[in-house]
Amino acid sequence: MGESLFQKLWVSTPSSTRASDGLGPLFNARSCESCHPKAGRGRPPVEDERPVSIFLRLSVAPSTPEERALIESGKVPFLPEPTYGSQLQNFGVPGVPGEGEIKITYEEIKVDLSEGEVAYLRKPTYTIENLAYGPMSDHALVSARVAPPMIGLGLLEAIAETDITSQADPEDADQDGISGRVSWVDPNDSDTRTVGRFGWKALKASVQSQSAGAFTGDLGLSTPYDLRNYGDCTEAQTVCFEQAHGEQADLGISEAPDPVLDLVVFYSQNLAVPARRDVNDPRVLAGKKVFHEAGCASCHTPKYVTSRTAENPVHQFQLIWPYTDLLLHDLGQGLSDDRPTGSASGNEWKTPPLWGIGLTENINNHRFFLHDGRARGLLEAVLWHGGEAEAAKTRVVEMPAKDRANLIRFLETL
Ligand code: HEC
Ligand code: HEC
Repeated sequence: MGESLFQKLWVSTPSSTRASDGLGPLFNARSCESCHPKAGRGRPPVEDERPVSIFLRLSVAPSTPEERALIESGKVPFLPEPTYGSQLQNFGVPGVPGEGEIKITYEEIKVDLSEGEVAYLRKPTYTIENLAYGPMSDHALVSARVAPPMIGLGLLEAIAETDITSQADPEDADQDGISGRVSWVDPNDSDTRTVGRFGWKALKASVQSQSAGAFTGDLGLSTPYDLRNYGDCTEAQTVCFEQAHGEQADLGISEAPDPVLDLVVFYSQNLAVPARRDVNDPRVLAGKKVFHEAGCASCHTPKYVTSRTAENPVHQFQLIWPYTDLLLHDLGQGLSDDRPTGSASGNEWKTPPLWGIGLTENINNHRFFLHDGRARGLLEAVLWHGGEAEAAKTRVVEMPAKDRANLIRFLETL
């Protein structure tokens, strides 16, 4: 049931299918699956396609002492853009214009590798065209994100908090050039901080809060967790509030009433991780050695044993291989979105899990990686690493070509 709700195409209100309405007024897609195809990875548009599984997060930099204090208190992770809210929705229900169109242009950057090999990276620039609700703030900050794959999320949730916090080294006390900071979040404004694990900047502590955020922000549907029937519409977008909403008292509170969110969360927590392939191939074993020697494992922590007290018994005490420390790292200006949120600076990103990454093409028929899908393959993804990962990247650039190829072979078996 969770899967069918994940795939369900929601419709606008009023509609004859009362249990499926409530979409919008503003939205990015009509189903979770549109962005997480086959529960896999989204991608940037190719050529003249309309973007679907990528969107822009929006905010404004704090400009008054009060706003700065609010951000520093950790009570709110960022300040939404006053007119467009916290995300650019490019679609609206009939009568409500979409907010604008994301436009991406790329600039090619040549990278010289050892033994005369060459790679090309493409650096994206994001602009917004056809703004439908007037100009955006001069202080607007934007960050492009593609949808990450949905596998193993319940297992990541079951990693004991201390196993994450013990890896943090915010001041780089061991002087290995790699710090690693916990993304602390206070999801319920309760003065109890928990470790953020989900999203490219680890801004969400649970699959539930990330999924509820998706219902509101991406689909424009309220849930008992977030009761805003008008989704991410701001007061400036008065046309939103002239629309009928999809909440119906006889079906329950909110447009997606209980147990819709719970079922989708259950589904999202229980998608298995694929088994590795070709583990004993000598070239793969050589690549694994290169992965460790180059220092990749300093952030892409290979394995954990999940907590014995995890909520769901099937997630308890499991040996798992996600290849992430779930910490924030400064990966340099090249990958920066210059948009601080929560604990994360513009340069910082959460180390993404690498499990299943070798099957991206099989599942989703593409090879676009990193938070905005700019990398066209695994080697490009590695070559974008800078900041704390500069030394690891340089080793990859300078190592014998054979080692580089084996490193990629190893990643393809994850
Ligand atoms: C318009 C595209 C879009 C839609 C629709 C969408 N997502 Fe996502 N999803 C994303 C993006 C982009 C991220 C990364 C968010 C970030 O970094 O801020 C994400 C992240 C997630 C994550 C965290 C995964 C991780 O490994 O960190 C979960 C869980 C998730 N989405 C669930 C859902 C559910 C459930 C729905 C439907 C209610 C949904 N998403 C609909 C684009 C989408
Ligand atoms: C300092 C920490 C750090 C080190 C060291 C590091 N990485 Fe990463 N890695 C990250 C972060 C953070 C990202 C996400 C960056 C982004 O999306 O902008 C990432 C992304 C990736 C991705 C793309 C993942 C995806 O889902 O799109 C791959 C592949 C990867 N790293 C492989 C490697 C390899 C191979 C090495 C060693 C040569 C390495 N990394 C070293 C932190 C690190």
